[in-house]
Amino acid sequence: MSTTRRLAASQQFLDDLYGRLARRYDLVNAVQSAGLVGFARRAAARHLGAGVVLDVGAGSGDLAAACLAAGADRVVCLDRSPPMLAVAREKLAGEERAGRVAFVRGDVFRLPFDDETFDHVGSGFVFRNLPAAEEAFGELFRVLKPGGNFASVDVLAPPPGLFGAAYRLYLNTMVPVWGRLFAGDRPAYKYLAASIQRCFTGEEFALRLEAAGFEATRAQPWFGGICYVVTGRKP
Ligand SMILES: C[S@@+](CC[C@H](N)C(=O)[O-])C[C@H]1O[C@@H](n2cnc3c(N)ncnc32)[C@H](O)[C@@H]1O
Repeated sequence: MSTTRRLAASQQFLDDLYGRLARRYDLVNAVQSAGLVGFARRAAARHLGAGVVLDVGAGSGDLAAACLAAGADRVVCLDRSPPMLAVAREKLAGEERAGRVAFVRGDVFRLPFDDETFDHVGSGFVFRNLPAAEEAFGELFRVLKPGGNFASVDVLAPPPGLFGAAYRLYLNTMVPVWGRLFAGDRPAYKYLAASIQRCFTGEEFALRLEAAGFEATRAQPWFGGICYVVTGRKP
């Protein structure tokens, strides 16, 4: 299979997965992380701050909500999945009425925006899963204004050592169980747990941002390296 067809097939797989999980995504997320990822998500939002923020892979809208709470004037939520956007829309209905949030169905590899549109760009738990994620970083760079910040919160490759081994055990045993119990979808959560273990590290993420032109990149580990907030700035 050609690379283009392979990437399209894996994106189709992700679209089906998030379409299926949309209504249960928040619940399983909260259970499997014991609510901890919210802290790292808020740290990413604080790094972005005021102005107009693009949230790529916005999903059910939690990063967008954190950005608004952290002082963003307006957030544009972009996602490929209509069911995920529908959940975000319900959650942020009041903010939409107030004109503080907008929803766009679109793809992070081909952003439907002009160059230098946004003050900041954020993402939560998106790039780990994307085939050829680094190819999207040029798009993020393009739509950012000079001086704009990027921040991503994600669960990346497990840390080395004993703690990492225990975490891998948790991923391989408990996460599929949470998926079956709370979303009725064990295979989906088995896939998500496996995707964490074959993902790049926080430091590799930061290097890929640099290769796309970002400066002042930083990978900050949370919870012993389970979660990372990776940041950078457009010069
Ligand atoms: C794990 S959810 C993250 C939701 C949210 N950002 C959060 O903080 O919880 C990943 C989201 O990325 C979206 N996504 C996957 N591939 C995408 C792409 N190529 N372009 C835009 N969104 C994409 C999925 O539809 C899904 O809603």
